[in-house]
Amino acid sequence: MIATEKRTNAVKRNMSSEEKTPAYFVHEKGMCESVIGAGSRVWAHAHVMKNALVGADCNIGEGSFVESGAYIGTGCTIKNGVSIWDGVHLEGEVFVGPNAVFTNDMMPRAKSVNPEFHLVQTVVKRGASIGANATIVCGTTLGEYCMIGAGAVVTKDVPAFALVIGNPARIHAWVSKKGSKLQFDANGIATDDDGNTYKLENNTVSIIE
Ligand SMILES: CC(C)(COP(=O)(O)OP(=O)(O)OC[C@H]1O[C@@H](n2cnc3c(N)ncnc32)[C@H](O)[C@@H]1OP(=O)(O)O)[C@@H](O)C(=O)NCCC(=O)NCCS
Repeated sequence: MIATEKRTNAVKRNMSSEEKTPAYFVHEKGMCESVIGAGSRVWAHAHVMKNALVGADCNIGEGSFVESGAYIGTGCTIKNGVSIWDGVHLEGEVFVGPNAVFTNDMMPRAKSVNPEFHLVQTVVKRGASIGANATIVCGTTLGEYCMIGAGAVVTKDVPAFALVIGNPARIHAWVSKKGSKLQFDANGIATDDDGNTYKLENNTVSIIE
C-alpha cells in the first residue's frame, strides 16, 4: 500500500495544473534523463539515458537500463534487470521477462583490442514476449506476438505467433495473441477464445481478417 501511495503522489507531482492526465513516474531511486511517454513508470535503480525513446504506458522494472538510441514503443513491460541497448527496437506492447539479455555487437572485443564497433540492430515486433533469462543475439527480428521461452537463445528470426524454446531456439508451438497454444485443423485453421482465426501455411501463421 505504501508503494502505491508513493507512486500516486509522485505521479501527481508530474501533472501540470492544466493537464487532466498524469505525465510519467520516476521512483525516487530511479534515474530518467529523457522525457518519456505519459503514464510510463521507471522503478528503483532503473536508468533511462538521455536520447532514449520510451513511449506511453511503459513499465521499466527495477534495475533496468535503457541506453541512448534505444526505442521502446507504447505499452511495453520491461521486467527487472533488463538492459535495452542502442539498436534495440521494441514495437508496442512487448513484454521482456526478468534478466532477459539483448546484444548489439556480433563480434565483441574490448576497445583496447579493437576500437571499431559495428552496431547490429534487433527488432521486436508488436505484442511479442520474451521469457526470463532469454538471450537475443543481435541482427534478429522477433515477429508479432511470438513468445520466447525462458532461457532460450535466439539466433535467428522468429516468425509471428511462434513459441520458441531451447539453445539455439527452435519452434516448439504456435500461440494466439493472448498467448494460448493454437491447435490447427487439417486445413491449417485455428481459432482462439476471442474469435480470432489463424492460418498456418508454409511455417507461417497469420490472422485471417
Ligand atoms: C515454453 C513455455 C511457454 C511452456 O510451453 P509448453 O509447450 O506449455 O511447455 P510444456 O510445459 O508442455 O513442456 C513441454 C516440454 O518443453 C520443455 N520446456 C518447457 N519450457 C521450456 C523452456 N523454457 N526451455 C526449454 N524446454 C522447455 C519441458 O520440460 C517439456 O519437455 P519434455 O517434453 O522433455 O518433458 C514455458 O515453459 C516458458 O518458458 N514460459 C516463459 C516463462 C517466463 O519466462 N516468464 C517471464 C515472466 S515471469
